[in-house]
Amino acid sequence: MPTVRLAAVENRHFLRRAVEFLSRQGVRQFLDVGSGIPTSPNTHEIAQAIDPTARIVYVDNDPLVLTHARALLTSAPAGRTAYLGADLRDPGSILRHPELRGTLDLARPVGLLLVAVLHFVRDDEDPAGIVATLVDALAPGSWVVVSHSTFDFMPAEMLPRLEAPNRDGRFRARSREELAGLLGGLDLVEPGIQSVVQWWAGDEPGPRPAVEDVAIHAAVARVPQKPV
Ligand SMILES: C[S@@+](CC[C@H](N)C(=O)[O-])C[C@H]1O[C@@H](n2cnc3c(N)ncnc32)[C@H](O)[C@@H]1O
Repeated sequence: MPTVRLAAVENRHFLRRAVEFLSRQGVRQFLDVGSGIPTSPNTHEIAQAIDPTARIVYVDNDPLVLTHARALLTSAPAGRTAYLGADLRDPGSILRHPELRGTLDLARPVGLLLVAVLHFVRDDEDPAGIVATLVDALAPGSWVVVSHSTFDFMPAEMLPRLEAPNRDGRFRARSREELAGLLGGLDLVEPGIQSVVQWWAGDEPGPRPAVEDVAIHAAVARVPQKPV
């Protein structure tokens, strides 16, 4: 996929727009799982540009990412950042982690970011259950931001070539319907699941890239009130 660099850049633009959107909704805490090697602007830079007191917990299971993160992700003095080495496939270990508990107040709204990471969770690892476990721990008024690789926009004849390098099955592109299934029970912000290229991209400089050159779905959802 020769446009993979473009895809990564567009995915980051989506992350920025989504974090700005949540910040404007009053969210001041973010849990960024599968945060990746730091690249500016990072989640805390985006959120703390709007409110310097914002608190962000970064999570990744790659020790190299954590080394870079600890060196580079310095919080604004009024806010706070923390970095956990933890695995999305064990969401309880993230939620129980003392660094998370010491940084975020789970009784207050949190923006949960699962940006370009769920496609590394196989079907037999229960991605829907993982999302549900994390969402259940969030206070009403919280939000979920997701982006996810897809082959929806690809011509059928290209699929064997795209799947060929994925011999261990670690990478799992999902369709719009499959992604909707992972987000079951959440209230999607209009316009629902869209290409990262298009999700609230009206202010991005044009022309926008072709959706098939980016091949990533995006969604932002509100965590509903829990039944009493
Ligand atoms: C494609 S990068 C996305 C980085 C960033 N979220 C972004 O969108 O630019 C995926 C990241 O998820 C991390 N990752 C993959 N599987 C993970 C897992 N099971 N638990 C935690 N992190 C994981 C990888 O180490 C990598 O840093």
